[in-house]
Amino acid sequence: MHASTLLVSLLGASTAVIAAPTWPAFNWDAAKPDGLETVSEYFNMLAQKIEVGKLMAAAPVCDMTKALMVAAPKPLDPPSAGLTLKHVAIGRGTQNYTCDLTNATAVPVQVGALATLFNASCVAATYPDLLQLLPKLALQFNLTAQEDSRMGPTNLIISGKHFFTNTTTPFFNLDTTQYTLGEAGCSKANQTDAPTDAPKGQQGEKAVPWLRLKTHVGSTGNLQEVYRIETAGGSAPSTCVGQPAAFEVQYAAQYWFWEGQTQA
Ligand SMILES: *[C@@H]1O[C@H](CO)[C@@H](O)[C@H](O)[C@H]1NC(C)=O
Ligand SMILES: *[C@@H]1O[C@H](CO)[C@@H](O)[C@H](O)[C@H]1NC(C)=O
Ligand SMILES: *[C@@H]1O[C@H](CO)[C@@H](O)[C@H](O)[C@H]1NC(C)=O
Ligand SMILES: *[C@@H]1O[C@H](CO)[C@@H](O)[C@H](O)[C@H]1NC(C)=O
Ligand SMILES: *[C@@H]1O[C@H](CO)[C@@H](O)[C@H](O)[C@H]1NC(C)=O
Ligand SMILES: *[C@@H]1O[C@H](CO)[C@@H](O)[C@H](O)[C@H]1NC(C)=O
Repeated sequence: MHASTLLVSLLGASTAVIAAPTWPAFNWDAAKPDGLETVSEYFNMLAQKIEVGKLMAAAPVCDMTKALMVAAPKPLDPPSAGLTLKHVAIGRGTQNYTCDLTNATAVPVQVGALATLFNASCVAATYPDLLQLLPKLALQFNLTAQEDSRMGPTNLIISGKHFFTNTTTPFFNLDTTQYTLGEAGCSKANQTDAPTDAPKGQQGEKAVPWLRLKTHVGSTGNLQEVYRIETAGGSAPSTCVGQPAAFEVQYAAQYWFWEGQTQA
């Protein structure tokens, strides 16, 4: 079947099943050459596993012990002993950078990030292959401004916000009207480059590194560690040549939140 025919027919089918409200504009230019391929792949999977729609609409109880953070521990350290998986989210937003325009050899410096987190716990527990595709898929769409925005053609609901409280403190707020999962400021424990075949950004940027973060004392919801893995896009150019003093790069990633009783 021709790719666009496939896409249209599956869009129709999935709209009926998951009753997606509005479809955001597809980023055709930035997405080339693999955007259409990603979206077709997504809808092929969704069509095969159409239960996903019902699953999410019904706010199911998903067995988090079935969700395996397979790729993360190598070469990142695994979660500390005794921690259990609490939540999996797809983060979609921007990495922020600054450039010292008074310095001809300056390189971009990361100063923060701002992302919306979408609840992917059930997808992680049920369809790991679909989960793996979600950061790449998420990057094909820009988020719309409203709080009730959806992540592209998925039916994932918002589970929180990710931002920085200062230039070295990533913060996660997972308290929403629907779920109270906790809040945490974090420090970076481990970092490793994304795999060389990780999805590139809207302008071809490299994927940002994979991270293991530890939460600060005072975090709620027993949140202890947060992993950022399966990143897509988000890296700054290697030099500041031609860049403004402050700029943003679109990115997406999986975030895995681990809980436990003892603050490390
Ligand atoms: C998404 O946002 C970026 C800027 O952040 C812009 O360059 C791009 O055109 C936008 N794409 C769509 C489809 O709106
Ligand atoms: C949202 O996240 C919570 C906590 O991880 C989980 O219990 C719930 O099943 C998730 N809902 C969906 C629709 O994934
Ligand atoms: C980062 O980008 C967000 C989104 O536009 C913006 O609200 C925020 O002020 C930026 N932060 C910095 C430090 O530039
Ligand atoms: C200019 O930037 C380079 C690269 O980050 C740095 O090594 C150097 O110290 C900077 N020079 C000044 C005067 O800040
Ligand atoms: C950033 O915030 C953390 C946690 O509140 C604090 O420990 C650290 O000193 C702050 N860093 C700066 C540069 O303000
Ligand atoms: C990961 O971070 C922990 C805690 O900061 C540290 O003890 C450990 O050595 C780090 N592992 C690697 C491989 O860097």
